[in-house]
Amino acid sequence: FSLKKYNTFGIDATARYFVEITTIEELQQILSNPDYPRKIIIGGGSNMLLTDSIDALFIHVNLKGKQIISESPNTVQIKVMAGENWHEMVMWAIDNNFGGLENMSLIPGNTGTAPIQNIGAYGVELKDCFVSCEAVRIIDQHLVTLTKEECKFGYRDSFFKNEGKDKFVITSVTFSFTKNVHKINSGYGAIENQLEKESIIHPTIKDISNAVIAIRKSKLPDPKILGNSGSFFKNPIVSTEIFEAFIAKNPDAPFYKMSDDFYKIPAGWLIEQCGFKGKRFGDAGVHKNQALVLVNYDKATGKDILDLAAKIIKEVKRTFDIEISPEVNLIK
Ligand code: EPU
Repeated sequence: FSLKKYNTFGIDATARYFVEITTIEELQQILSNPDYPRKIIIGGGSNMLLTDSIDALFIHVNLKGKQIISESPNTVQIKVMAGENWHEMVMWAIDNNFGGLENMSLIPGNTGTAPIQNIGAYGVELKDCFVSCEAVRIIDQHLVTLTKEECKFGYRDSFFKNEGKDKFVITSVTFSFTKNVHKINSGYGAIENQLEKESIIHPTIKDISNAVIAIRKSKLPDPKILGNSGSFFKNPIVSTEIFEAFIAKNPDAPFYKMSDDFYKIPAGWLIEQCGFKGKRFGDAGVHKNQALVLVNYDKATGKDILDLAAKIIKEVKRTFDIEISPEVNLIK
C-alpha cells in the first residue's frame, strides 16, 4: 500500500497493511487486534519522514466533528475530533469570531497530532489555547482524558514524545477560544512588518490570520506543490556559555533569549550560513526561502532526505560546534 498521498513529504514509501478508522470503537477494535504486532498511527502525515517499505499496520485516524462543550460570556470551549484538518479548523474558528489560534493559520496536518509536538508559530503555541485531550490508551484501549498539566508541553515537545510515546492515540482536542474580546498577538517581527505594509493599526483576528498566511506563503513551500514537512530541524537551545562563545564569533546572528540560562538560535540561519539554502542533491533539497525546510522535488526516498539531513547536521557542527536535531519523526 503506497503512503505517498498520506505524507506531506510525498515519499513513496509502502505500508504492509493500512486501515482507516472513522469511529473510536473501530480504533479500539483494531488496537486490540493481535494479528498486527506493529501499529503506526498516521494523521495528516505532516511531521514524519517515512523510509521505504515499512512492515507495520498503518492506522489512519479519520475521526471528524466539532462540538461546543461550554460557553461563558467571553470564552467558548470546543472539542475538535482528531481527523479535522488543522487549518480548516482554524479558519472555521475565525469565521465564528473565536480567537486564539489565528497565529497558527496554514500549518499543515490534523488537529489530533498537533499536541504531540505542541505546534507553534508566530509567537503562539497550541498549549496557549489547549484545555485537554481525549486519547485511547493503546495497552487497554480505554478512552482517557489528559489535562494540560499531564501533557507536559514544551518547545516542540510534550508527554506524547517522552513518557507517553507510542502509548496513546489522541482522538480529540478541546480548546478554549476567546469570544468578543480577543487577545491579539502581533508582536512577532514578521507580523508587525506585514501589518505595517497593509497599514493595519488595530488588527482583528482575521487580519492576523491573513498576515500569517501571507508570510507563510512567501517563505514556506506548499506541500501540495513541493513535498515537505515544514521545519525539518528544531532550533537548538544552548546554554549561556555556549551562546556567548557563539555570538562572539558570529555577532550578526539572530537569537532569542529564553531565560537567564538558555538561548535559542535559529537553525535556518546556521544552515544558510553553511551554504545549503536552495541547494539540490538529486531530488532532495533545501528550500530556497527557508533553510530549515527540506523538500522532495519528486522522487526522493526517505533515505535521500536523511542523507541530506546528516550532511547538514555534520556541517553545522563543524562550522559552529552546535548540534542541531530533526523535528520530524523518522519512521523506519
Ligand atoms: N533565518 C535565516 N535563514 C533561513 C531561515 C531563517 O537566516 O533560511 C533566520 C531569519 O532571518 C530569522 C530567524 O532565522 O532571523 C528565524 O526565522 P523565522 O522567523 O522564519 O522562524 P524559524 O525559527 O525559522 C520557527 C518555527 C516555524 C514557525 C516560525 C514562525 C521551529 C523549528 N520552526 O521557524 O515552524 O513557523 O518559527 O514562528 O521552531 C514548523 O515547525 O514546521 C514551522 C514552520
